Amino acid sequence: MTKFVIKGGKKLEGTLPIKGAKNSMLPIMAAAVLSSSREDIELQNIPAIVDMQVMTKILQSLGAKAKFAQNTLWINVRDLQNYTITEELMQEMRSSIFLMGPLLARFGKVRVTYPGGCSIGPRPIDLHLKGLEALGARIREENGYITASAPRLHGTEIHLDYPSVGATENLIMAAVLARGKTLIYNAAKEPEIVDLQNFLNALGADVRGAGTETLRIRGVESVGRCTYRIIPDRIVAGTYLMAAAITGGRLLLEQIIPEHLDAVVAKMKEAGVELVATADSLEVVSSDLRAVETLHTLPYPGFPTDLQAPMMALLTLARGESKVTESIFEARFRHVDELKRLRAQINVEGRTALIRGVEKLSGAEVQATDLRAGAALVLVGLAAEGQTVVHNIKHIDRGYERIEEDLGKIGAEIYRV
Ligand code: EPZ
Repeated sequence: MTKFVIKGGKKLEGTLPIKGAKNSMLPIMAAAVLSSSREDIELQNIPAIVDMQVMTKILQSLGAKAKFAQNTLWINVRDLQNYTITEELMQEMRSSIFLMGPLLARFGKVRVTYPGGCSIGPRPIDLHLKGLEALGARIREENGYITASAPRLHGTEIHLDYPSVGATENLIMAAVLARGKTLIYNAAKEPEIVDLQNFLNALGADVRGAGTETLRIRGVESVGRCTYRIIPDRIVAGTYLMAAAITGGRLLLEQIIPEHLDAVVAKMKEAGVELVATADSLEVVSSDLRAVETLHTLPYPGFPTDLQAPMMALLTLARGESKVTESIFEARFRHVDELKRLRAQINVEGRTALIRGVEKLSGAEVQATDLRAGAALVLVGLAAEGQTVVHNIKHIDRGYERIEEDLGKIGAEIYRV
């Protein structure tokens, strides 16, 4: 099994460009299924990450053609003829659930299995299924498969019990070809949903309101093709800013959208990190880490749950006691035990972790349990004295394109072995 070997203690210094957002790319790749064009759809700024390869494999299993080169992905869905996603593919990546809405809209039928829970919690899909039923789908469950069918979906009003990112995206895509108007209340407001709206409208759909809690989708007869550049990845950007801060280094991130990180920048400043923003860049200038009284993860525009683990890594070296509450997922503290192996002082009570800052961390052998926990372990490895070995780094490759090359470019001693 591949692992990262990290020699800690190097200050990171330099400039990095940030690639496209994984959590924009995945729903947008699924949305390509809606197109009745016979031509390629061209997606630019696509990161070469494992999740892109898996979603490509799933689209190909349905009959689509896909080609990837130099961070551009061409998808052709003219020969799409399959609306069943195999159990094996569903288990490989939970985001395959994003295909339910588009496949149902295109074929009037879709068969999937429950996506695997993962190490951050059970990950139910009740809000997805309830919304599809409201749009007129008949949902049946038989021997592990969920079958949704509808001769044609019809517009409706949906009130989401929770602003679920995935459910919001799935239902927008299902509503694009429905007959009539759909309103979605209490929708998620993440920037990736605005990106999906812009992509769908570039195909010829009529979606309004993304970024607010109320969405209006006017169904159209069909949508075509487009060339579209996805937004930069705010979670990768936040992770790299924290890597610079934890090593006391200096890092300029270019080609990003700073306002997507407003809550993250505010919390990092509170933790003693000096940050400078321009219209399309953010720079960590210096850090004198101090504890933050409280940090709650929240739906956007609050502090993102995907940066909770990397931020906790930073706080292990921040003078004083910090309190971190994970409000989004039931079990997103798997990184705590691993951080403690490096001598971090953390106590977990339910959904809250108390972190008491220490003077120094000591390198150790640790396991990545999920994507962002793995990123957090790389961060503490960069700051810990001695050598840290991070195992199970396939989790990290799901969402970071060759993280060791990026960090190596700015002075980190990190090797994939
Ligand atoms: C998306 O997951 C992201 N994934 C996650 O990023 C991110 O952590 C999450 O949104 C929250 O921002 C992608 O976009 C591919 P949710 P998603 O539906 O859609 C509960 C990463 O590291 N819920 O907003 O699954 C759910 O259990 C990944 O890049 C229901 O109860 O998140 C969770 O507690 C991890 N019923 C909460 O809502 C449902 O039907 C938030 O989930 C759906 C969700």
